[in-house]
Amino acid sequence: MASKLFIFIFFSSLPFVVLSQSFSTIQLPQNVRAPVSLTFDPLGKALYVAVSDGRILWLNSKFGFTDFAYTAPTRTKQLCDGTTNPDLGPVCGKPYSLSFSRRGDLYIVDAYFGLLVVGRNGGFATQLATSAEGVPFRFLTALDVDLLTEIPGVPPDATGRFMKYDPRTRQVTVLLRGLSRPSGVAVSLDRSFVLVSENSANRILKYWLRGRKANTAEILISLPAAPNQIKRNPVGDFWVPIRAVANQQPTSVIMPIGLKINRFGVVLASISFSAQYYNVSVSVALELNHALYTGSSFNAVDFVGAYTI
Ligand SMILES: *[C@@H]1O[C@H](CO)[C@@H](O)[C@H](O)[C@H]1NC(C)=O
Repeated sequence: MASKLFIFIFFSSLPFVVLSQSFSTIQLPQNVRAPVSLTFDPLGKALYVAVSDGRILWLNSKFGFTDFAYTAPTRTKQLCDGTTNPDLGPVCGKPYSLSFSRRGDLYIVDAYFGLLVVGRNGGFATQLATSAEGVPFRFLTALDVDLLTEIPGVPPDATGRFMKYDPRTRQVTVLLRGLSRPSGVAVSLDRSFVLVSENSANRILKYWLRGRKANTAEILISLPAAPNQIKRNPVGDFWVPIRAVANQQPTSVIMPIGLKINRFGVVLASISFSAQYYNVSVSVALELNHALYTGSSFNAVDFVGAYTI
């Protein structure tokens, strides 16, 4: 009962607006599941989705979801398309997070192939950074343009790192260490700071890139549940899905909630995803043109969600 009470306290103590909403689904191709990450191209025209069979798909009005890019040089469509077999990750790829540069290159982090980039025409992505030991990064979890987070080791631990990759010098710089399962990063609109979510610590950090506090981090907000990926919206606020858990005897049930927070850590709005995402986590919530698009790393999910907000 403890966690139920916890959620109740959370809902009743924060003065945020609960959004009214209508919901529709954008169905993934047959057998394709777990749309873990979403992004729009820099013009906000096309939606790109990373799915669990290792592909990055893009949505177009003519053909629906179409192959765009692959992270694994070993990937074949015959073996990998539609697979949910986790053992095939090292062969098929496991993209986790997507972010376009302003120039229109798509940066990708993949659990097995690290940091990659692919140009406008898509296809096989090029691996970029490797660790100091010269091997590809493993367990990269999130990126925004040229900032990365990584979970080495088995979570939950406090060995996650937050890093910066400079495409010109190809240097990787570690900005923060000792993070508890960093799961999301988002750079502010004015590029003065970046938010980093710590999944196992139930909080979001604010790391200053510029100004008086440059190169230091502070806790932006402590949350009642684990935060996932963070996405900036067009006006510079941020959406982060959290994974609340309620005890429903005899088992527990995951209650995914989306929070909109501003640069000061004030919760501006919340949205419950429970009705559409029963007992699964939402990994990403991406806002564009009064719609909130949602994805999940769970194999039970075979659609991209679209809430009107
Ligand atoms: C929710 O999912 C978990 C596994 O992730 C399962 O153990 C639990 O029984 C489910 N709860 C309900 C109420 O279906």
